[in-house]
Amino acid sequence: MTSSVTAIGPIGVFDSGIGGLSVLGALRKELPHEQFVYVADAGHAPYGERDSAHVLRRSQVLADYLYSTHQVKALVLACNTATAAAVASLRQQYVNLPIVGIEPALKPAAAQSGSGVVAVMATRSTLESEKFQALLAAQAPSVRYLLQACDGLATAIEQSDRLEIEALCQRYVQSLRQAQDGGARIDTVVLGCTHYALAVDVLSKAWGPGVALLEAGEPVARRTRQVLKEAGKLQERKAHDAPHDSATDSLFYTTGDPAALDQALKDWLLKPMSHQATKLQLP
Ligand code: DGL
Repeated sequence: MTSSVTAIGPIGVFDSGIGGLSVLGALRKELPHEQFVYVADAGHAPYGERDSAHVLRRSQVLADYLYSTHQVKALVLACNTATAAAVASLRQQYVNLPIVGIEPALKPAAAQSGSGVVAVMATRSTLESEKFQALLAAQAPSVRYLLQACDGLATAIEQSDRLEIEALCQRYVQSLRQAQDGGARIDTVVLGCTHYALAVDVLSKAWGPGVALLEAGEPVARRTRQVLKEAGKLQERKAHDAPHDSATDSLFYTTGDPAALDQALKDWLLKPMSHQATKLQLP
C-alpha cells in the first residue's frame, strides 16, 4: 500500500495480548500529544509457541485493521515475536507508514554487564527466528549470551495466574543459573517478551539482588518519536495546546475477552481506570 499518511491520526500499537501495555506506557510518556489505538490479539495468542506463519498472518490482519479502520499514521509492533516474524514484510507492504518494532536489548545488555554473562528470556518463536539469530551473531564475541525459551510464561501473565507466574519464573531462572556452568555469573537479564515486563517484580525476586533486568519499552518509545519526527508526522502539541487527557488519548480493542484487557489496563496502565476495551471481530 502506497497512499501517504498524514500527521493527524493515531498511532497503532499491537501485541498478542496485554504485554504491549508495557510499551504503550512508555509511548504515552514519550509522546504526550499523540493518540493511540491498541489491539490485543488475545483470541489468537500466545504467539510465542506458534509457527511464524501464524504470527505473520495475524500481524497482517491487525496492521490492515489499524490502517484501514483507524487510518493510523504509524504502527508500533509492541511484541518481539511479531516483530521477528512480520516487521520486514509489513514494511514492504506499507511503504509510507512508519513502522517500529521491538527486539531483545542484547547490545544495551552487553554494554552494562560487568560479568560479561547476559541471560535472554524470550518466547521460543523469537529465539528461533532468523531475525534474532542474526542479531545474536552481530554481537561482540566477548559477551556470553545464555538463552531461555520461557514456554507458558506469557500465557500465565495474560491470565494473571500468580502461582503459575512464580513457578515458571523460578524454573527458568534456575535453568539459566545452571547454564552458567561454574563460569562467571549472569548479572544482566534481557526481557525479550513484552509480557515479561509486567512480571518484573516476580522476576526481580527470583533473580535476587545484583542482577539488572532490561526491557525495551523506553527505547522503542524514543525510536517512535524519532521516526515520526523524520517523517514530519510528530504531534508536538494538540491543536488547543492542552496536556494529555488520559480519558481520550487511547482506544483499546481485543480479539479476546474485553474484561481481561480492562483488568490489565487498571493494573498496569491507567489508575484510576478511565478506558474500556471493546471486543473486536476480525477474520
Ligand atoms: N508479548 C509477545 C512478545 O513480546 C509474546 C507473547 C506471546 O507469546 O503471545 O514476544
